[in-house]
Amino acid sequence: MDKPYQAMKDIGVLPAHFPIPGAGFLPVNAFVIKAKEPVLVDTGMGIDGADFMKALESVIDPRELKWVWLTHDDADHTGNLRKVLDAAPAARLAANSLAALRVSTAWPVPMDRVCWLNPGESIDAGDRTLTAVRPPLFDNPTTIGIYDGKSETFFSADCFGAIIPSPALNADDLPEEVLSQGMIAWAGADSPWVHMVEPARFSQTLEKIRQIAPKTVLSAHLPPAAGKTERLLDILSRVPASTPFAAPNQKALLRILAQGR
Ligand SMILES: [Fe+2]
Ligand SMILES: [Fe+2]
Repeated sequence: MDKPYQAMKDIGVLPAHFPIPGAGFLPVNAFVIKAKEPVLVDTGMGIDGADFMKALESVIDPRELKWVWLTHDDADHTGNLRKVLDAAPAARLAANSLAALRVSTAWPVPMDRVCWLNPGESIDAGDRTLTAVRPPLFDNPTTIGIYDGKSETFFSADCFGAIIPSPALNADDLPEEVLSQGMIAWAGADSPWVHMVEPARFSQTLEKIRQIAPKTVLSAHLPPAAGKTERLLDILSRVPASTPFAAPNQKALLRILAQGR
């Protein structure tokens, strides 16, 4: 777990970086929206446990949280969900119905605290409306990103992520080639179905985000990206025609293990 910081005045980042052997790091971010009804977006990795809770408490008293928005039920987003809901008794869980049901195969999610959302539906966080938006790329059928109309920010779940050579606090700190190569590698690895999609059809899903025109993109897997939405969409438009990602095999693992000795 890294040190929390502000992405902007009313949005805090709870950052971590997961090492990908032989490739670099995958940022793993959760976010706190200091709305009138404060919102935690995702709950980090279970391996961070107490450190995640400490990071959260350094940004907000969990008892003040009114919402926990789960973008999808992958382990790097649900890692501390149960702990957070226990520490935040006033919070409701905003999630796609399938995400809530799938999490409840592991522990009894209190469904009376859940708000089931589909893309296009919203919650009222007091001073802003948060709308569920399906990002152009996703690795899980329950994925709902968030468009925050007040900060004009798109919380894009796994979409727009990148594998990067070293931890960074801002997407502007990444050289252009590092950003584009890291995003294309992550997109192909995380959403391999993108290679089965006609580029023209895929462009239509990018166009939906272009029309929303978020000023800032806060991906779970990229340092905060302000004023770069057009650039990020341009990079994603190249993904369907890119070389499919080949996951490392046992030979690669043995090489990595030998290097670590
Ligand atoms: Fe995911
Ligand atoms: Fe993820």
